[in-house]
Amino acid sequence: MEKRNQLYEGKAKKVYATDDPDLFIVSYKDDATAFNGEKKGSIAGKGAVNNIMSNIVFALLEEAGVPTHLVRQLSDRDTLVKAVRILPLEVIVRNTAAGSFSKRYGVEEGTPLAQPTLEFSYKKDELGDPLINDDHILALGLADQADLDRVRIYTRKVNEVMKNFFETKGLKLIDFKIEFGKTPDGRIILADEVSPDTCRLWDIETNEKMDKDRFRRDLGKVEETYQAVLERVRA
Ligand code: TMP
Repeated sequence: MEKRNQLYEGKAKKVYATDDPDLFIVSYKDDATAFNGEKKGSIAGKGAVNNIMSNIVFALLEEAGVPTHLVRQLSDRDTLVKAVRILPLEVIVRNTAAGSFSKRYGVEEGTPLAQPTLEFSYKKDELGDPLINDDHILALGLADQADLDRVRIYTRKVNEVMKNFFETKGLKLIDFKIEFGKTPDGRIILADEVSPDTCRLWDIETNEKMDKDRFRRDLGKVEETYQAVLERVRA
């Protein structure tokens, strides 16, 4: 399957049409941004790590009953996926306080949460991806109630599967962001990626941060950490 015209370029990926209208090719870049694009850089090898890792995790989720866009990996950076319209929502799950949750509610990073939380952000760069609730999503017509019900059911499953999986790799799943898409026939499926860009992963023994916070916060060892996460996930 070959790339045809470029349909979209995001901060970390490009999406191409193919000769089949039901299939796209996503191509992962090494570009890295943070704070809504304010901080820009590049992480050598990140595109390949995120592509390969996403595909491993998506295959696992498919087995567990969560439908995903994955069709097959084409190369280190390119993957053939089902064509979807991405819901303009970031679905964020937290198992442990960190990042914007810690800041907003004044809770120290690393504080365990009594139960996992699910929150939505409205994907709109001009607004800085603001937090949004179900009523707002329905009022703005970003998704309907049936979509939201599906998204919640799948997301809970994604958290369960990923938490257990990463634990076997010596990684604690602190929080993560996923995105869903709608197929031309109206089904909701998991799309986008699961990678150190989109998950907070801490070493179970040392609590060392093994994710994009190393880039966001200038913690050093950025490239090495992405490679180390991929090695663990592949093992
Ligand atoms: P936050 O604590 O900054 O809200 O981030 C929560 C999770 O979402 C964390 O695992 C990082 C991920 N995330 C993204 O994937 N993309 C984003 O643009 C942001 C802000 C967070």
